[in-house]
This record gives sequence, structure tokens and C-alpha cells, in this order.
Amino acid sequence: MQKPRLVILGSGGHAKVIAEIFEETSSFEIAGFTTLSPTESLFAYPHLGNDDELPRLLAKGITHAFPAIGSNRIRHRMLAHLRSLGFTLPNAISRHAILSPRTQLGAAVAIMPGAIVNVDSTIEDGAILNTASSIDHDNHIGACAHVAPGCHLAGNVTVGEGAFIAAGSAAIPGVTIGPWATVGAGGVVIRDITAGVTVVGVPATRLLR
Ligand SMILES: CC(C)(COP(=O)(O)OP(=O)(O)OC[C@H]1O[C@@H](n2cnc3c(N)ncnc32)[C@H](O)[C@@H]1OP(=O)(O)O)[C@@H](O)C(=O)NCCC(=O)NCCS
Repeated sequence: MQKPRLVILGSGGHAKVIAEIFEETSSFEIAGFTTLSPTESLFAYPHLGNDDELPRLLAKGITHAFPAIGSNRIRHRMLAHLRSLGFTLPNAISRHAILSPRTQLGAAVAIMPGAIVNVDSTIEDGAILNTASSIDHDNHIGACAHVAPGCHLAGNVTVGEGAFIAAGSAAIPGVTIGPWATVGAGGVVIRDITAGVTVVGVPATRLLR
């Protein structure tokens, strides 16, 4: 049976990891990638044009798409755009990730090698659980949030839409990290974080500029 054809949006480091996950799972034929610049590359895959080409790619039978874009804001926008065009949005889950069978997954979720998701956690559309991050029981990870490499979230943590938990951060049980907030690399969250603010340090406190 012919595999569904998939276009990857993006060509950066994040897109390389996503492409490799789709290669490993071999559930899709990677038709190529789109980027703004024609000079970019993604392994040996064909450059299919910029994002203006997406409606034509869909019409040609490339029915599946994955927004492999690191910026939470841009990924959020592209996800809505892909959905409005009518693409199917599969998840990219590494074979080397460990997921509780009780994990609830949205669409276009990226779960990288070594990530662990424990029981009864929900991962919303477009979220990234990056390399070797751990999401313990009863977490809620909002749409297009990014939990960066090596982060550890204890049980009952809520991460709002678009929040960025930078590399090597941690959160104690029960805290809420508001939508579009940023936790700087190595930060330890011990109390709730307001929407949109940046916190850093141990314990994580608001970065004043
Ligand atoms: C928090 C962060 C986003 C802030 O970036 P920024 O707005 O460019 O901030 P700046 O580099 O201008 O630093 C501003 C101040 O915050 C401090 N700071 C920045 N990041 C910090 C961190 N993670 N922990 C402690 N202090 C930090 C800086 O030392 C600086 O302090 P100063 O004014 O006293 O010199 C960034 O430093 C960070 O942690 N990025 C992580 C990226 C990452 O993990 N990416 C993973 C991709 S997969």
C-alpha cells in the first residue's frame, strides 16, 4: 500500500530531527520540505518551494504536513494555516521516546528521542517535548509549548500555550507556567509563572530588563 505523502515545513536543526523521526517510523513518504529561502537544504529531500506552494502541494496529493519550526509563535501560526488548508497533521514521535499508554496527544506533536511522558498527561497540538525531557504524571502541556532538552517537569504541572521551558529547567509538582511565558535555561520553577513573563534562576524569578 502506498504511504501517505508528507511535506515538512522548515529545514533547521529541529526539522532535521523531525525528518529523522519520520524516516525511522517509515509511516510516510517524505515528499520534501518548504522554506522561505530556496538555498536551504534538508538532507537530500527536494525543496518544494516556499509556504505559498502549500495549496498546490495538497492538490498534488501531498496530504500530510508537519510544521518543523522551532519558534513557538510561527509554529502556532503555521499550524492554523495548515489546518485551514485541509492538511492532515500527524505526530512525530521518536521510537526512542517512552510514553504512557494513557498519554493524550493532540496533532503535530513532536516527541524527541529519550523523552518520557508519564501517566495521564496531555500534550496539545504543536507542542515539542525535546530530547531527554521528562513530563511526569497528570501534566498538561499547552498547544505549541516547547519543553526543551533535558527539562524535568514533576507531577501535575501545567504549561500554557506557547510557553518555552528552556534547556535543563525543572518544575516542582503542581505549578502552572502561564501561556507564552519563558523559563530561562537551568531555571527551577517553584511557584506559578504569570503569562508572558520570562523567569530565570534557582528558584526562577522574573527577569527584569
Ligand atoms: C532566558 C533567555 C531566553 C533570555 O534571553 P535574552 O532575552 O536574550 O536575555 P539576555 O541574554 O539579554 O540576558 C539578560 C540577563 O539575564 C541573564 N540570563 C539570561 N539567561 C539566563 C539564564 N538562563 N539563567 C540565569 N540568568 C540568565 C543574563 O545573564 C543577563 O543578565 P545581566 O543583565 O545581569 O547581564 C535565554 O538566556 C535562555 O535561557 N535561552 C535558552 C535557550 C534554550 O534553552 N534553547 C533550547 C533550544 S532547543
